[in-house]
Parts: sequence; C-alpha cells; structure tokens
Amino acid sequence: MGSSLASAIQTENPPNGIATDLGEFGEALWAKKVALDDAVRKAAQWISTARAVLVGAGAGMGVDSGLGTYRGAAMGVWPPLEALGIDYREICTPDALVEHPQLAWAFWRYCMIAYRNAEPHEGYGAIQQWAARARLGVFCYTTNVDAMWPRILQEGSLYEAHGSTSFLQCSNARGGCPGKGMVWPCPDNFAEQLSLEASRDDSVELGALPHCPDCGNLARPNVNLFGDLDFSKKRSRIQREAYRQWLQSVDGDIADELAPVLEQEQLAIEANERRTEPMDQPMSEELLEFRRQAESELLRRPVVCLEIGAGISIPTVRTALETRAAQAGHVLIRINPENCDIPAELQANGRAVSLPLSAVDALRRIADCTQGMR
Ligand SMILES: NC(=O)c1ccc[n+]([C@@H]2O[C@H](COP(=O)([O-])OP(=O)(O)OC[C@H]3O[C@@H](n4cnc5c(N)ncnc54)[C@H](O)[C@@H]3O)[C@@H](O)[C@H]2O)c1
Ligand SMILES: [Zn+2]
Repeated sequence: MGSSLASAIQTENPPNGIATDLGEFGEALWAKKVALDDAVRKAAQWISTARAVLVGAGAGMGVDSGLGTYRGAAMGVWPPLEALGIDYREICTPDALVEHPQLAWAFWRYCMIAYRNAEPHEGYGAIQQWAARARLGVFCYTTNVDAMWPRILQEGSLYEAHGSTSFLQCSNARGGCPGKGMVWPCPDNFAEQLSLEASRDDSVELGALPHCPDCGNLARPNVNLFGDLDFSKKRSRIQREAYRQWLQSVDGDIADELAPVLEQEQLAIEANERRTEPMDQPMSEELLEFRRQAESELLRRPVVCLEIGAGISIPTVRTALETRAAQAGHVLIRINPENCDIPAELQANGRAVSLPLSAVDALRRIADCTQGMR
C-alpha cells in the first residue's frame, strides 16, 4: 500500500487524486469504504465488550463453507433438482417422501453428505472464541439444518429451530407409531451407504431406505419440512427450552443493572399517584434523562444480536433478532451481502450496523479489529 493511501485510511480522507480521478463515483466509493470501516469498528467494539452474544444464523452462514442457500445468488441445494424441474419447496415436503420416497431420499442423502463434508469456515472459529469471552457466553438460534453449529458450540447453547439432518425420525410420527415421535441420531456414514442416484425412476429397493425401528415405516430426517405436521419436536423442544432459559438469564442480568433506575421510577410513579391530578401524567424529564443514561450505561456491555446470512423469504431468524435487538441494552449486527437493510429506529439510535459482506469476510474483519482492542 502506498504511503499516501495508508495515511489517508488513517485520517479517513480520500488520498489525493482519488476523488478527482474518479469524480463522483470515486467519492461515493470512498464514502462507502469509510462507512464500512466504521461499521466494522463499531461491531468489533460491541463484540469485545459484549456481556452476551446471540447469534442468529441463516443459510448464508454456510455459503463460505461451500453450501447452497434456499434463495438468492448462492441458491442451490441439490444440483439435479433444476434438471428434474423440481423446486426446493416441492422436495422438502412430507408428500415428497410418501409419493417419491427414493427421489426424496436421494435429495436428503446429497444434503447430508454435503453438510457433513463441509468444513466450518474461519467465521465459525471466531464466534467460538467470542463464546469464551462474553460473560454470559454465546447462544446460537438457527434455522439451518446442516448440523454445522453442534461442531462449534455445545448442545446447551444451540437452538436448531428447523431441526437437523444429523437426526432421524419416523415419517408416521403422528400416526400409530409406538415410538411417539422418537428422534435418533443418524448412524455414522449413514448417507454414504445409501446407494441412491438422482433420478425420478430410481431403481433402489424401498427396503434399502431407512426405516423406523419401532413401526417399520419409512424414516426421514428430523427436519421441519414445508407443510409438515409430522415434524417431531422431541429434540427441538429441549433446545428451545435452553434458549428460553439463556434469554431469561440475559434479561435477569440486565434487570439487575437497571434495578436502581426502576426503583427511582417506581418512587416517582407512586408520588404521581398520590397527587390529585390524572395518573397518566408524563414522566418528568429528569427521570427520562436518568433512564436514558442508564440505557447508555447498559450499552457499555451490550447484548450483541449477531445475525448472519438470514434471508427474507422465511424471516424467522431476522424477526427474532430484530425483536430482541429492540430491547434496552441490545445492539444488532446484520451480516448479509444481499439483504442488509436494518430497522430505521435501531439505526437512528446508533444501535445497529449493517455489513454487506459475506459471512467469512465480515467475521474475519471484526475478529481482526477486536485484536487491536484488547
Ligand atoms: N445450510 C442449511 O442448513 C440450509 C440451506 C438451505 C436452506 N435451508 C432451509 O431453508 C430455509 C432458508 O432460509 P434462510 O433465510 O436461512 O435462507 P435463504 O436462502 O432464504 O437466504 C439466505 C441469505 O443468505 C445471504 N447470503 C448469501 N451468501 C452469503 C454469504 N456468503 N454470507 C452471508 N450471507 C449470505 C443471502 O443474501 C440471503 O439473505 C430455512 O428454513 C432452512 O431450514 C437450510
Ligand atoms: Zn415409527
């Protein structure tokens, strides 16, 4: 890097010549770079002081590990689907398993092998390190079914809301199966041993497909499919409860810190009630100011909502993280190269940043920036 560019980056002024050489385009580009650097710095500062990190991960998190997404530029879960003229929404259904069991299992077999062979990228490692640093740790809420997160975080720090391809269940879980929604782990090399090909008229015997040990019906991945009434929540319910408890502990931690403010507020409300004037009198300006200060104090050790690669067509993760980030003491970091808009209110309060980068690029930049902050 030339010395004029290096010093310009430090002072955040465009190096001599850039603006004049490239005109408005150059200036806009430079402004974008400065804004991105600012956002990364802010994200790194939040991460390095976080009391807790809530990761919300969508399919985009797996892209830099070579996995496809459901929608968007990195779309593509199983290449033969397109050739067969079948949509992801059609193959990911309980009906597909009933009507075309071999084809459906060929799809799941491909996914399982792809997920298992994928190596978690550097961004996963960074989050693993942050988990050890934040006082209340890291919890990951994900709709990914790729079983990547259990390789990174402990089972008690994970809610795989749409299930996981590393577990199986009976396809007749609601019916007369005596297993009553039992969920069991996929045996090692299970998918590799299924000799299925990508075709509608697959000649593999039905008997070669996995079956429920309790009733003999077809087994299927423990994944919440489209229009799925048979998804067994035996496992995800336990994870959901761990999630609820973790959030409760975070709320408790914040409430402890806000307790003195809330006490003051209660005293003021009671004083207000003793008056003869209407009870819905606005809170005094001093009290509101006191509260604002308490909230900005909380932000010195924020709860970081770190959303990565969550799409907009099934916005489960985005909605959960935005809702959470609206609470006092919370901030939002949204990492997404395509869908990176952030809620206006959070942005206006300086409590959200958007990093329109790939997961690995954004997490690497944040990690590098936190190094200098320790
Ligand atoms: N890996 C998986 O487990 C996987 C893969 C595909 C689909 N699904 C299922 O399909 C649904 C997908 O919903 P979704 O919102 O997670 O995915 P989606 O496909 O709807 O959206 C993916 C998002 O990732 C972003 N993205 C693309 N490349 C990225 C990158 N390199 N880094 C970061 N972000 C990137 C896209 O801009 C998009 O917003 C879920 O229900 C899930 O169960 C799961
Ligand atoms: Zn069964």
